[in-house]
Amino acid sequence: MSENNEGKNVHGFCRIPANIVETYADNIPFDIYLQLSDNKVVKLEKHGSNAKDVIAKYAVKGIQYFYADKEDYVIFVNTIRQDMEKTFGNKTLPKEKKLKNLSDGYEMVHDSLIRIGLSEDVAAIAKEVTQKSLELISEQTNVFSFFKEFKDKCHAAYMRNTLLSWIVTGMLETFDWSNSALRGKMCLAVMLRDILLTNEELKALREKPIDQLSFGIKNHPEAMAALINEAKREYIPKDVAAIIIQHHEAPDGSGFPKGLHSWQISKLSSLIIVGDVFIDAMFRYNFEPSKKEFVISDLWDRYKNDDKFIAAVKSLKTMLDKT
Ligand SMILES: [Fe+2]
Repeated sequence: MSENNEGKNVHGFCRIPANIVETYADNIPFDIYLQLSDNKVVKLEKHGSNAKDVIAKYAVKGIQYFYADKEDYVIFVNTIRQDMEKTFGNKTLPKEKKLKNLSDGYEMVHDSLIRIGLSEDVAAIAKEVTQKSLELISEQTNVFSFFKEFKDKCHAAYMRNTLLSWIVTGMLETFDWSNSALRGKMCLAVMLRDILLTNEELKALREKPIDQLSFGIKNHPEAMAALINEAKREYIPKDVAAIIIQHHEAPDGSGFPKGLHSWQISKLSSLIIVGDVFIDAMFRYNFEPSKKEFVISDLWDRYKNDDKFIAAVKSLKTMLDKT
């Protein structure tokens, strides 16, 4: 392959993480493009070279994304969906490479939702990334050390979601009304709840007061819930949308988008809300395991007047005590 000097505007193109392009390099039946400047991409053309080697060479140079036009991208998403076991479930890959594949898969779901919407293929990849991520983290003997080691090597939102999926699954297991189907839905809700937001929007969400957030940020629970509700029922269960729409509410009515109060917030959403506050704190403490007790006591104080949220804190403490 070599670069063609005729550039095209990047806005008509969809990006694909370099790691995923490398995995499929020998079987990509369409043109791949490289970003030349802020708004231009150039085609990589075959000249008898091994496509995988050329793409690997660019990846080594620090290229994080390649580009494909939208029609080809839709086909590529379908290809990945049909071959997900190879992409995300290769048992022989080292765990850091698996984690990178899953983090890239998460980014593809983010980009796909924005560029092509919630199709059957995108929903299938989201489910696969969620399930494989949970399997990977469940294999770790020390989850907090694992996150400390890898938090800067993957998409930050993906790492946060994977940790929260593990925590929420453990919290659910402390309740006698939970079951595996419910745990699956909760993990999917965790993985999809912030997926429409960019890295910059996620940063603003963590750092700014609610009244300074943009409409796009404040609307993300409803936007994602709408995508799920508008898609076919078999793609993503509708219960997942109901959990997502409440994930920024607070028991005292200070949350968003609706300012609900505790009695209006479901038990499932309360678990995600409490888990998210815990993870925020653990991120601030760089996943130092010794800070767990301190953070829990803070949560205890924060929710002490609310039975539903205190029940969530108790379940969090119980699950953490077991690890
Ligand atoms: Fe969110």
